[in-house]
Amino acid sequence: MTDGQKTSRRSQAWFGAQGRSGMVYRSWMRNQGFGHEVFDGRPVIGIATSASELAPCNTHLTRVAEAVKRGVWQAGGLPLQFPTMATGETLMRPTAMLYRNLMAMEVEELIRANPLDGVVLLSGCDKTTPAMLMGAASVDLPAVMVTGGPMLNGKYRGQDVGSGTHVWKFEEDLKTGRMTEEECFFAEGCMARSNGHCMTMGTASTMACMAEALGMQLPGSAAWPAVDSRRMETAQTAGQRIVAMVEEELRPSQILTREAFENAIRVNAAIGGSTNAIIHLTAIAGRVGVDLRLRDFDDLVRAVPTLVNLMPSGTYLMEDFCYAGGLPAVMAELLRGTLLHGEQLTVTGRTVAENTEGAERVNSDVITGLDTPFQPAGTGTAVLRGNLCPDGAVIKQSAASPHLLTHRGPARVFDSPEAYHEVADDPELDIDENTVIVIRNAGPKGYPGMPEVSNVPLPAKLLKAGVTDMVRICDGRMSGTGYGTVVLHISPEAAVGGPLALVRDGDPVALDVPNRTLRLDVDDAELTRRREAWRAPAQRHTSGYAWLYTQNVEQADQGADFGFLRGSRGHEVPRDSH
Ligand code: FES
Ligand code: MG
Repeated sequence: MTDGQKTSRRSQAWFGAQGRSGMVYRSWMRNQGFGHEVFDGRPVIGIATSASELAPCNTHLTRVAEAVKRGVWQAGGLPLQFPTMATGETLMRPTAMLYRNLMAMEVEELIRANPLDGVVLLSGCDKTTPAMLMGAASVDLPAVMVTGGPMLNGKYRGQDVGSGTHVWKFEEDLKTGRMTEEECFFAEGCMARSNGHCMTMGTASTMACMAEALGMQLPGSAAWPAVDSRRMETAQTAGQRIVAMVEEELRPSQILTREAFENAIRVNAAIGGSTNAIIHLTAIAGRVGVDLRLRDFDDLVRAVPTLVNLMPSGTYLMEDFCYAGGLPAVMAELLRGTLLHGEQLTVTGRTVAENTEGAERVNSDVITGLDTPFQPAGTGTAVLRGNLCPDGAVIKQSAASPHLLTHRGPARVFDSPEAYHEVADDPELDIDENTVIVIRNAGPKGYPGMPEVSNVPLPAKLLKAGVTDMVRICDGRMSGTGYGTVVLHISPEAAVGGPLALVRDGDPVALDVPNRTLRLDVDDAELTRRREAWRAPAQRHTSGYAWLYTQNVEQADQGADFGFLRGSRGHEVPRDSH
């Protein structure tokens, strides 16, 4: 039935099996109308789709899967679509991030447990992309990602509106009376007007670009709008390509090298990408044994200017980015400045330099050149140290106010984001524009799940007085679409006894981004006294998945993966129970 090379395929341990076992594996599959010939040893390709009506950014992935299937059939493979969980950012409580590791675990186990030789990963919304890459990396079968693409640009009264970014703006406008409730309802529909994920350079677009920069999705694939026919074309090509990757035995471990991560980190700086990429890239790296440190995210980007003028740091949106040349144009420009490793292998079987050859910047307002960058080098994400964050913290300078990057002010401490929200609109609130708002217990273990709560809105009374930004510090994350002078990912987090837990109202907090420090100006003897009196907050969960999460999640600077999921567990064919 098969030649020697084909019988060595993993899927043949199922479909090529003799006797009762083989009959069981084939017979039930034939209820889908497959003829016997599909079991002849051709590559069996899983299409992992995170389509879900509860994850609106991913609903159309079922259509993308159809395009992938066409490509797989064309190239002589057998495509088999299967669902994975979807972590939709907007609906899931307490936070989609709580479930990233669960999804990664599910993706990994589903690939390994089934008769697959390769896999196409269909993702979209923020956490779905890293979760799938983490899972696939831990199996290390040939894998190519197709992200679902951004929504069309939001349009409200003739203006571009960006998903996420304009939610914050509209909220402020509502609070200050610049917008009515009715106008807000109308604007909701204008913001999300097609299938796809957020079309700002938020976390979803960032992670789509990261997948491409790492070499895990086809060149140009990150930017095609979800409803553009070329999204389907690229998906079909990915289907063809995965079959060839199986023949070539091209695996994630050959693509996800230290140099690939360095490329991704630099690309993230050039696109003005989300701070969440730091956590996700670190977690993916942990799956392939690449030792990424938080400081790499500062050291590697100091020479990289921001080239892409997209919200939340800039003006434009993903549709504009696509028409301006997309990520290949950015990567070609970075290569021109020798800021990337051009020899890195990618899913095309070709190098980064080969993939981006001839890529052009079509609109230099949207994608600027290295000579006249949108923002100069050294103004991207900075990694801070100091007695408030011994294992580091992160600030996105391009989303911050320049006058606050060096700031000293008294702390006003809130033990949860809810505690702040309760008083934020109180006209008597004892906060002025110099106050440093401290939000704690929002870390991986503390919340649990490290939600995007760090950029709490400013107190209503200060917004009304015309204050536009204040320093906020937190052990949680910020939405990739958010902005403000917000220190994020403070490690260790308060819930495990990080120094953030010791801050009291009125303590002077000193932020010095140019010198990369965040300090609590309280003397050591006093901090020692406070530490001795500190008691860990009660565990919120004593059973179930949230308990498993709290027991096993690592700190933000380590990628917030589960310790027991680090590394690869390979793709050995499991035992047969028939
Ligand atoms: Fe899904 Fe933004 S909410 S990508
Ligand atoms: Mg988000």
